[in-house]
Amino acid sequence: MCGIVGYIGTKNATDVLIDGLRKLEYRGYDSAGIAVVDSGKIAVRKAKGRLDDLEACMQKTGVPKGNCGIGHTRWATHGEPSDVNSHPHSCKRVTLVHNGIIENYIQLKEELVNDGYVFLSETDTETVAVMLEKLYKGDSIKAIDELCKKMRGSYALGIIFSDRPEEIYAIRKDSPLIVGLCEDESFIASDIPAVLKYTNRYYLIEENEIAVLNKSGVCVVDREGKKIEKSVFEAKWDIEAAEKGGYPHFMIKEINEEPKALKNTISPHIENGMPVIPVSELGDERLAALNKIHIVACGTAMHAGLIGKSAIEELARIPVEVSIASEFRYVNPIINKDDLVIIISQSGETADTLAALRLAKKSGAYTLAVVNVVGSSIAREADGAWFTWAGPEIAVASTKAFSVQCAIMYMLALRLSFAKGTLSEDEVKEKTAELMSIPDVVEKVIEQIDPACRELACQNFSTTDLFFIGRGMDYSLSVEGSLKLKEISYIHSEAYAAGELKHGTISLVTDGVPVVAIATQKPLFEKMISNIKEVKARGAMVTLVCRETAEVSNDVYDNIVKMPEISDLFMPLLLAAFIQLFAYYTSVERGCDVDKPRNLAKSVTVE
Ligand code: AGP
Repeated sequence: MCGIVGYIGTKNATDVLIDGLRKLEYRGYDSAGIAVVDSGKIAVRKAKGRLDDLEACMQKTGVPKGNCGIGHTRWATHGEPSDVNSHPHSCKRVTLVHNGIIENYIQLKEELVNDGYVFLSETDTETVAVMLEKLYKGDSIKAIDELCKKMRGSYALGIIFSDRPEEIYAIRKDSPLIVGLCEDESFIASDIPAVLKYTNRYYLIEENEIAVLNKSGVCVVDREGKKIEKSVFEAKWDIEAAEKGGYPHFMIKEINEEPKALKNTISPHIENGMPVIPVSELGDERLAALNKIHIVACGTAMHAGLIGKSAIEELARIPVEVSIASEFRYVNPIINKDDLVIIISQSGETADTLAALRLAKKSGAYTLAVVNVVGSSIAREADGAWFTWAGPEIAVASTKAFSVQCAIMYMLALRLSFAKGTLSEDEVKEKTAELMSIPDVVEKVIEQIDPACRELACQNFSTTDLFFIGRGMDYSLSVEGSLKLKEISYIHSEAYAAGELKHGTISLVTDGVPVVAIATQKPLFEKMISNIKEVKARGAMVTLVCRETAEVSNDVYDNIVKMPEISDLFMPLLLAAFIQLFAYYTSVERGCDVDKPRNLAKSVTVE
């Protein structure tokens, strides 16, 4: 996820662009850049790092002066953060900024290289600029129309043509884009915050619409160039709320971004209905030869590793050992050089996880990083990297990153099962098709269970203790649910393997003790009901999380949250929404600082 802005009017464009990018830095902040029409020529300034680094760069190279320009703050997906990979990207007459993922950029790039075009960056965006330059024969709308026919994926583009220096063109598909409207100036932006200082009036640009901004105003046309009448919207948000997209906290915004984050993470790695690992060294031959996999991470990332263990062992029958990075480092781990070591980290900077990676590399085993930040230390130092495309995760509590980490675990497990021959191609395709349908199911679940989670939070926010119990992957989600609740609501919580209760911990269950029982795994459901009856008999207040088809008498539970019918395998992706929403609303009820809980940091870069 990146942030794009554009401006044309009477003000100094550089000031307006930088100001707008500052409001969008939550969307991405590993590099930034602007392009301003200065004395009739497009002046581009861009740099790796934060906006301050861009401003420092402009102090050295000159601050562009003009009234028309575009800007970008980057969340790297293709090509690590660097000056050359920063936006804007140019090719001869075309300069543009992009938010989104062009899924077929490799094919387009091959076509352009064959045409003799030279590329400077590793980005998908540069391919868009070069393709538009190739297609542009003087008719800007026609060239943009042809460009849209060639691109597959998501995009919001701000474009300036050097032979049309007083115009900005904007188009979108899947990525957000608004056009800010003022008396004698207009704007484009990925999100309202970038323009609220100047105007709260805007157009929402729809797919297949092209916005053309010039000094006399904004004209929106269709792909044939026919004018379209647009409704004017008025933003009611204040700036603070707007940076959260209208949500009260980043955490709830990021939970609601999960469906899109899952789609962005899954769809680029599915070819002909099969998951494809984006690391050439892990071809099917090498996967087939694997005898052991280690997964190493911290906190929530480690819990995603637990889901990976269940999926890989069930589907591919390869033993998987999941380790807490801070333990792994000091137990002299037994790693064979033909093992695979998977390092999971949202930030890619967690000190213990980075140290564990370095230790693993000494063993000679292949190290695969599953990270959300391109260019992060773990991404750079691992032998290979598989990026989650969740976009920036601002809230300290990891939510969408957990979901997309699980999604990559599933794709890896499915490819491994194909390579190992434990599943046929048809069986893999069938499960892959279901995985691809999950983002839409998650979207429905978030909407459906939201009221129940609010109600549960109201019932439980004053408790001092709360237990999660489950079996199999439901136990893994119990562990993650307990962490989520603890870290943002400060309620003491524990997760127990339900079968373990009678070995000691059930002594803690007395009248009114809340127990969240997660029971979605079909083969274990009856066992779970027995365990629930054990705690119910001792006075527990039971919240049962189960399938909507589960047959259970209502004297077994006090509250029930139902999940739609999907395979056991992928149920964690739905349950993640439940545990996250429950923790979120409980934290809100308790008046905690949801996005920045006490004592915690988003990235634990110290041991
Ligand atoms: C997540 O809710 C926690 N804030 C924390 O456990 C986190 O998952 C852990 O610190 C690992 O971070 P990483 O994924 O950036 O390596």
